[in-house]
Amino acid sequence: MGAFIEAIDLHKTYRVGKIDVPALRGISFGVQKGEFVTVVGPSGSGKSTLFYLLGGLTRADSGKVIMDGDDFAALSDAERTRMRKRKIGFVFQKFNLLPTLDARSNIAIAQEISGNGDRDPAFFLRICDLLGLSKRLNHRPSELSGGEQQRVALARALVNKPAVVLADEPTGNLDTENSNIVLRMLRQSNQELGQTVLMITHNPEAAKYGDRMIHMRDGHVVKPEDDPQWSVH
Ligand SMILES: Nc1ncnc2c1ncn2[C@@H]1O[C@H](COP(=O)(O)OP(=O)(O)OP(=O)(O)O)[C@@H](O)[C@H]1O
Ligand SMILES: [Mg+2]
Repeated sequence: MGAFIEAIDLHKTYRVGKIDVPALRGISFGVQKGEFVTVVGPSGSGKSTLFYLLGGLTRADSGKVIMDGDDFAALSDAERTRMRKRKIGFVFQKFNLLPTLDARSNIAIAQEISGNGDRDPAFFLRICDLLGLSKRLNHRPSELSGGEQQRVALARALVNKPAVVLADEPTGNLDTENSNIVLRMLRQSNQELGQTVLMITHNPEAAKYGDRMIHMRDGHVVKPEDDPQWSVH
């Protein structure tokens, strides 16, 4: 049986004017169902590009992303969008909350657009409680701290109990206390629901929350011993 998420020889090059900027130069790996994997590597090594491809937010130039047996590239745009909403919870470094909606609606919107038809009010309240948001649900993003905004974004990602959680530097803008809340929640959700989690991070402490690390460098996956930044730890 294949892995739950499979990246197969992914290539992606951005074109800026007349210049090609290769971001991924042949990335392959598998993530098993229920695994919590962290992706580490220097700035510019292609981590966010990988995140967008794994989430079906952009297309690879070549190679494949297979999730739960479905090949993203073989799906129509509509099918890919539907699968994304149903199966994947996203956490972005910059929160990506809707500024005019309060925290409650920012979280609830994930349930509305998922089309799962499985709204679970008790689970909604529990997630908010675990993330310390219960008293902030009427606040808009501009009335929340950065840490609170990221906790709202995490609640939004988790409230549908997605099979897969993809997080790009979810603690990148947070202090230690908020980072720990976010990381513990990701870990708890992964363990309770058997979710497959892939988290990009710069932070060695954060990377330890996962079961294993994938090391990236210059658009490639490299062995841990070939990653000087990390092999010293
Ligand atoms: N939209 C874009 N247009 C052109 N080049 C891009 C674009 N996005 C990323 N790149 C380039 O692709 C390479 C990989 O970028 P990417 O954002 O995937 O790196 P990263 O590992 O996430 O870095 P960081 O840790 O700084 O977030 C870099 O050289 C970057 O300059
Ligand atoms: Mg990035």
